[in-house]
Amino acid sequence: MGKIIINTPGAHSEILIGENWQSVIRLLPENGVVIITDDNVRRLYGDRFPKVPLFAVPPGEGSKKLEVIERLAEKLLEAGIDRTGFVLAIGGGVVCDLAGFLASIYMRGIRCGYVSTSLLSQVDASTGGKNGVNLKGTKNMLGNIRQPEFVICDPSMLLSLSEEEYLSGLAELIKTAIIGDKDLFDLIERSHKEIMDRNCDLLTVLVTKSVTFKALVVSEDEKETGLRRILNFGHTYGHAVEMQKSVKHGFAVASGMELATDFSFEKGFISSGERDKIVNLLNRFGLLETHNIPDDQIDQLILHDKKKTGTDIHFVFTEGIGKAIVKTVSVGEVIGFYKRFRDKK
Ligand SMILES: NC(=O)c1ccc[n+]([C@@H]2O[C@H](COP(=O)([O-])OP(=O)(O)OC[C@H]3O[C@@H](n4cnc5c(N)ncnc54)[C@H](O)[C@@H]3O)[C@@H](O)[C@H]2O)c1
Repeated sequence: MGKIIINTPGAHSEILIGENWQSVIRLLPENGVVIITDDNVRRLYGDRFPKVPLFAVPPGEGSKKLEVIERLAEKLLEAGIDRTGFVLAIGGGVVCDLAGFLASIYMRGIRCGYVSTSLLSQVDASTGGKNGVNLKGTKNMLGNIRQPEFVICDPSMLLSLSEEEYLSGLAELIKTAIIGDKDLFDLIERSHKEIMDRNCDLLTVLVTKSVTFKALVVSEDEKETGLRRILNFGHTYGHAVEMQKSVKHGFAVASGMELATDFSFEKGFISSGERDKIVNLLNRFGLLETHNIPDDQIDQLILHDKKKTGTDIHFVFTEGIGKAIVKTVSVGEVIGFYKRFRDKK
């Protein structure tokens, strides 16, 4: 079992990896706990949840909206939760984003902790304190940054994930390797079978490495004014693919990483050998989507990128496996590269 600590100016958060999720009980206060989960996770694990009031939302991105927060807040009030209350999220990224946001605004903020149940939330979503809901189809428009007191990542919970959800999380793990950890990249490259078999010992190592890196970045730049931007590697083009094709987030990010890698090669930041290594790894896990976004749509999709300031984008390039760099690039250049890449395929 590994423990990673995130210390930011306002908070101390512990991420426990490889811990049996049912030990969460020892981290909870005696009174005032409520569980937020979704219907899938409740069906699979609900009989072993701590016996406290429980509110389940429908699974998926559709629940990440303000009405759901309002409805949950009403339920908390009805359950008599006051300022001493504690919100325990048990679920994937959607549940953690919702519950974290709810806890941060209910009665101006109550305590919270997460049992993180999907690979995507274990390697990425539940570290760093970002939470929030979507607004009219634009992702994560309302939310804030607030660290949960703890996050438990139990790899045995990943055995019940669908293949698609599992691979979607794997893409974010590969992202971490490309931007910050060459050893992790090499380990993923030589462990294809064990990863596909969901070997729990290996998953503990992989999640630990990913969280260690993200925790370092977040501790240095909690509010994303500098270093934290590198975590957006693959996301500028990835969001465009996600909006156009409605594929799972990780698959869209994988295609975005292929584009960003090729863009890095065109700029002279990496060799063709490194580019091929990255693209081959993404391909080996079946993560790359075909996409052919028409001119008028790619213009609109890139113009809506949240990493844009005025006419420029903070674009994340790789400078070699394990190293990333953020450069200010004009929107026109980002769109132009997409079109060149698309047309040569
Ligand atoms: N806060 C952040 O920093 C951050 C970072 C990345 C992504 N996110 C957010 O995370 C969300 C995506 O996370 P996600 O992929 O976990 O989505 P999710 O929570 O919708 O989970 C995906 C699916 O897997 C199911 N599931 C979860 N755990 C399971 C388990 N152990 N066994 C079987 N099924 C299980 C869920 O019910 C759901 O159907 C997005 O909303 C994204 O914006 C947040």
